[in-house]
Amino acid sequence: MITVRLDKNKHLRKRFDCGIAALNSYLCMMANQQSSRDNSRTFVLEDDNNPAYIIGFYTLTMAPIDLSALPSPLQQKHRHARSGGLIARLAVDKRNTHQVYGVWLLIDALKKLLSASEQVAFPVIIVDAKAGAVQFYEKFGFTAFADQTNKLFITVADVRSSLAD
Ligand SMILES: CC(C)(COP(=O)(O)OP(=O)(O)OC[C@H]1O[C@@H](n2cnc3c(N)ncnc32)[C@H](O)[C@@H]1OP(=O)(O)O)[C@@H](O)C(=O)NCCC(=O)NCCS
Repeated sequence: MITVRLDKNKHLRKRFDCGIAALNSYLCMMANQQSSRDNSRTFVLEDDNNPAYIIGFYTLTMAPIDLSALPSPLQQKHRHARSGGLIARLAVDKRNTHQVYGVWLLIDALKKLLSASEQVAFPVIIVDAKAGAVQFYEKFGFTAFADQTNKLFITVADVRSSLAD
């Protein structure tokens, strides 16, 4: 399995339905435009039986880090850092849930951000979790920011060591 950049001429964006209207409409209306403007990148996992069908997608970009919302030891360690990698969106089509695609997409997104961090260093990866999906990320070592329960982070160092195992 591999993810590819969203291609509006190939992928049937309107067919995708993860059950959350805001995520569906982002994929349909915004993802391609935001990528063409270099604001974010959206990657899709294609269905092997029909590559036009999207099993799942995620969107990556950068975001400012609120240092004061990090635990004290990290605040000190990363006091000169300003930005983190952001998994802005991640979703699996309802027809394909509970088949570990969500986990696979999350690991794939983390690999891409880890690779990016080797070129333009940043210390943390942030995720904006929809309500109800917080535990999905906590299972993989993300921690909620002190001030925002739906916004979580993991250090790049932890991702590096997890993916090396
Ligand atoms: C959340 C979502 C990505 C999970 O995708 P999925 O392919 O069904 O997940 P997986 O099959 O990889 O599940 C892996 C594990 O996460 C758990 N899990 C799945 N969805 C979860 C949720 N919303 N909250 C907590 N845990 C969840 C599963 O139970 C499973 O754990 P288990 O193996 O111990 O039972 C998918 O349901 C989805 O797209 N939901 C709508 C959009 C959304 O909430 N996106 C997330 C943040 S923006």
